[in-house]
Amino acid sequence: MKNETGTFQTSIHDEDFLEQFSGGRAGWEGLISGAGRDTEKLNGTWNFSLDPYQTCLRAGWYLEASHDASGREYPLDYDFDQWEPVPVPSCWNLLKKEYLWYEGPAVYTRKFTYVNRGEKTVVLKIGAANYDAKVFVNQRYVGHHRGGSTPFCFDITSFLGHDNRIVIVVDNTRNPNHVPMTNTDWFNYGGLYRDVELLRLPKVAITDFSVALVPDGAFDKLRASVTLSDPSCGGQAVVTIAELGLRQEIPVRNGQGEVTFGAKPELWGPESPRLYDVEVRFGEDVVTDRIGFREIRVAGTEIRLNGRAIVLKGICIHEESEANGKSVTDEEIRENFRLLKDLNANYARLAHYPHSENAARIADEMGILLWEEIPVYWAIHFRNKDTYADAENQLLELIRRDKNRASVILWSVGNENPDTDDRLNFMKSLALRAKAVDGSRLVTAACLVDRVNLIINDRLADSLDVIGINEYYGWYEPNIEHLQVIFDHSKPTKPVIISEFGADARAGERGSKDDLWTEDKQLEVYRIQTQTFAKIPYIKGTTPWILFDFRCPRRTNGFQDFYNRKGLLSQDKKTKKLAYFCMKAYYSR
Ligand code: GCU
Repeated sequence: MKNETGTFQTSIHDEDFLEQFSGGRAGWEGLISGAGRDTEKLNGTWNFSLDPYQTCLRAGWYLEASHDASGREYPLDYDFDQWEPVPVPSCWNLLKKEYLWYEGPAVYTRKFTYVNRGEKTVVLKIGAANYDAKVFVNQRYVGHHRGGSTPFCFDITSFLGHDNRIVIVVDNTRNPNHVPMTNTDWFNYGGLYRDVELLRLPKVAITDFSVALVPDGAFDKLRASVTLSDPSCGGQAVVTIAELGLRQEIPVRNGQGEVTFGAKPELWGPESPRLYDVEVRFGEDVVTDRIGFREIRVAGTEIRLNGRAIVLKGICIHEESEANGKSVTDEEIRENFRLLKDLNANYARLAHYPHSENAARIADEMGILLWEEIPVYWAIHFRNKDTYADAENQLLELIRRDKNRASVILWSVGNENPDTDDRLNFMKSLALRAKAVDGSRLVTAACLVDRVNLIINDRLADSLDVIGINEYYGWYEPNIEHLQVIFDHSKPTKPVIISEFGADARAGERGSKDDLWTEDKQLEVYRIQTQTFAKIPYIKGTTPWILFDFRCPRRTNGFQDFYNRKGLLSQDKKTKKLAYFCMKAYYSR
C-alpha cells in the first residue's frame, strides 16, 4: 500500500517524488504587467534553509503535517519559524561564508496576512528566481517556473486565507538541458533575488499592453495594444497621454485590442530621453507607465535612431555587485550607467541574460540604449525540444516585460554558439519569434568569426538585423594583425557591432605591453583594437568586455583569484585601469 505523502517511508523510498510538481508551469502567457500598479511587496525577512537532498519536496515539509493520521505528534525535521532569517530579495551565496559555493535546492518561507480589498484576483509575481522555483501556499502546491532571470506569475486567489504561509523551493543546480547549461563564464548565484509581490486585480484586468511609435519613418503615429485577462471580453479600452492632449479609445474584442492614431511626441534619444506618462484603462483596471517614443531601424549597414544614423558607443555589463551579487540595487545600476556616461558612451550590452527590469527603466531615464539578451550561451542542447521551449519562454518573458522600454533597441538571442545546423535551427527560430512578437526592435546575437578563413560568415547572420561579433584578437587569439584581415575579407550587408573584445588585467599590475595580466598589456590590446575599428565603416557599435571585473569560478590563477579580470575597472569599481582611459578617448571622437 502506498504510504501517505510525507511519511518517513515515502520520503526515503519514492524517487519519483518530483512528478507531482511537473504541472502548473508558469510562462510568458501568464505574465501580468505590474506597471503603475499599487503592488504589495512580500520583500523583507523570510525564513531560510539550504536543502541539498531536496527533503522539503521528498518529505512534504510544505504540508506542515505536524501529526500523523492517528493524531500522534510527528518528529519533524524542520521548523520554519526557527530557520535562519534572510532578506528577500537576495542571493544566498553572499549571506554567509559557508553559502558562497552552494549550488542546489534551498527553501524560503514566510507568513503573511491577506485582507481582501474588493479585488477579484490575487496574483503572486516573482521578479526572478535562479533557476527553478516551486511555490506552495497554505500547504498546497501552486506551480513552478524554470529560467533564472525573468519574472513569472501565479494566480493564488483560491489558495489564500487571512493568515497565510508561502514556501518557495529555489534550486540553482546547473543542468545540461537548461538555458544556460552547466558551463558559463560567470558565477552561478542562487536565490529569490528580485522582488516578490502581490497584484490585486479586478475581475477583468489588463495583463499586457504596449504604446509605441509606428516604425514607418514618419514619427507621427502611435500604436496602442492591450490584452485582457478574460479572452471573451470586449468593449473599449482607453489610452491617455495628457501631455500630448491625447485620449484614444482602443476597441477590444475577444480580450485583445489595438489602435493606431495620430501623435507627434517629442522623440526619445540619448541626448533627450523624453518620457511621457501613459495611462491605459479598461473598466475598473488602470495601468500607467513612463514611456519614451523612438524608432530604431537598420538601413544597409547603418543603424538609425529616429531616422538618423548612430554609432553605438558602449560597454558590456554583467548583473553583479561585490556586495549583492545579482541582487543589484537601483543605485548600483545608476553607478554603472554614470561610469558609462563618463566613458562618453551611449549604449550598454546587458550580458548574458535579462537584467533587472529596473535597469531598462533607469536607462530610459538616463538616455542609454540597450542590448538585452537571453542566456543561449555557448554549447546549449540545441536538439532538445524542452531546452528550446525554455529558451523561447525566457525570450518571450523578457519581451513582454520590457516591450515599453525605449532604451531597449536590440533583442539578442544568444552568445558565442557553435555554427552547427542544430544551433542554426534553434537560434533562427528564436530570432524569427522575436521579430514576429516585436517588430519595433532589432534582433541580434553575439557570433564568432571564422578564425580559419579569417572572415565573418556565421550562417545565423541571415536571420539577424544586426550582426554581433565577439573576438579576442591580442588576447586569446595571438595574431592581432588578423583582425584587420578579417574585416577586409568580410563584406557584411548589415550593421556589425563588436559585441566583445578585451583582455585581462589585475588592477595595479604593471609591466611591458607584452606582459599578460598587466594593465599595460590590456591597454595595448585596446589601442590596436580601437585603431582597427576606426577604419571599418560597417562597424556601427562596440561594447568592450567588460565594465568591471566579476566573479567567475573558471578563473583561478594568482592574478584572477576566481575573478574574470577583463574589467575596465576593478570589481569594487574603485580603480580605473589604463584601458578605461583608452576607451574614453576613443568614444570622445
Ligand atoms: C566570451 C564570453 C564571455 C566571457 C569572455 C571571456 O566572449 O562571451 O562571457 O566572459 O569571453 O573569456 O572573458
